[in-house]
Order: sequence, then structure tokens, then C-alpha cells
Amino acid sequence: MFKDSWLTVIGVGPGSGEYVTPAARRAAAAAEVLIGGRKALDLFADLECEKMLITGDLERLRDFLLKIRGRPTAVLVSGDPGLFSLLPWVKRQFPGEKINVIPGISSIQLAFARLACGWEDVVFLSCHGRSLEVLEPYLPRLKSAQVRLAILTGGANTPPVIGRYLVDHGLEGLMVWVGIELGGDGEQTAWLTAAELARSDFLGPGVVIAGCEPD
Ligand SMILES: C[S@@+](CC[C@H](N)C(=O)[O-])C[C@H]1O[C@@H](n2cnc3c(N)ncnc32)[C@H](O)[C@@H]1O
Repeated sequence: MFKDSWLTVIGVGPGSGEYVTPAARRAAAAAEVLIGGRKALDLFADLECEKMLITGDLERLRDFLLKIRGRPTAVLVSGDPGLFSLLPWVKRQFPGEKINVIPGISSIQLAFARLACGWEDVVFLSCHGRSLEVLEPYLPRLKSAQVRLAILTGGANTPPVIGRYLVDHGLEGLMVWVGIELGGDGEQTAWLTAAELARSDFLGPGVVIAGCEPD
């Protein structure tokens, strides 16, 4: 695993042990240092290597990575590294260096599995730490049912806030699907209108799917 690069970014899936792939587990077990958020590190509580908790202080993380550079290290990210993860930031810290990537099961993949629905034409958006204006270019096509969106929610932009944004843009009757803590003990899912979503108490890490209809 660490023969051709000291650094691996591992997608650990949506957060429960049953969605950690054997390849992810093998790569984590081969690392001398594991870096990740609390939930990701907890998935590897049995591994007795050095661990560093990511708190959101990326400067501290960069300093730490520079200090341990060369030692077999794995950065754990939720879901898949290719979708709104820390991977681009890690690459920017070490330009020109090879970084191994282990794919994981994305929250969006799990959302569409719950819906028993394909996702090849879906537009992926994240409102986690981003303005809701990322939704704006898609509103006309949502109104005419010509686009399907998978929206990651997070921070201040909770599912009810997304619902309120859709209501404010004339889409109160739009059917949306919401999935919270997918794959975990606290998983909650529902079909509801945007107006109902705006009034709901679906909080926590979530995915909102818009532009699909219930079967
Ligand atoms: C920084 S992004 C990472 C996305 C990740 N790379 C992926 O492929 O799912 C974090 C967001 O993913 C979504 N997410 C992560 N785990 C989730 C889960 N178990 N259930 C629902 N959404 C989840 C939430 O929208 C959360 O705010």
C-alpha cells in the first residue's frame, strides 16, 4: 500500500462499520499514522497506531503532515474521496507527489440505493459551508422537472434551510427526499414537499434529493 507513496486518502463510507470496504480497512491497518474526524477514527478504534483528530484547523493539519512527511500515513475522509472531500486540499499541500486514493461508499450512493434508483444523470451539489446560491442555476429546470439534484447539507445549511430556499423560489410543492445519518443507527428518511421540509426537524448530516418522484 505505502510502497510508492507515503500518503493515502481513504474513503471510509457514510460512517458505519458495515460500509467500510475491506480495501479501506487494509489500507488503514497498513498506516503508521491515521488522521481523521472523530467518527472516522472511531471506525478504526481497534488499530493501535498514532492518531490525529482533524478539528477543522487546516493549518495545524498541514504542519502535522509536514512533520510526519515520509511515514506511512492515511487521511480518512467520509464517503468517497472524489466527492466534496479533503482530497484536493491534501493534493495542494504536496504538489507533484503521488497520493494513493482508496474509494469509499458515498452518502449520495447510499441515498440512491435507499431510493432503488439510478444516479447517472444526477447533478451533485454541496451546501455544506457554501452559499445556497449554488442551487440557483438549477431552479428553472427543477420547476420543469428537467434536472435531478443530490444536495449535501451541513453546517448552517440544514435540510429545513434548503426547504425554505426552495419555498422562497416558488417551489413549495416540489417533492424532495431527505436522508439523515444514512447507514447509521439514527438513519431517518422521508419523502415530503419542499414546504414540509422547511418546517421539518431533519437536522444532522444529510442528503436532499430533488427532481425525483416517489415510485
Ligand atoms: C464534507 S462532505 C463529504 C461527502 C463525502 N465525501 C461523500 O462522498 O459522502 C460531508 C457531507 O456528506 C454528507 N454525509 C456524510 N455522511 C452522511 C450520512 N451518513 N448520511 C447522510 N449524509 C451524509 C452530509 O451532507 C455531510 O455534510
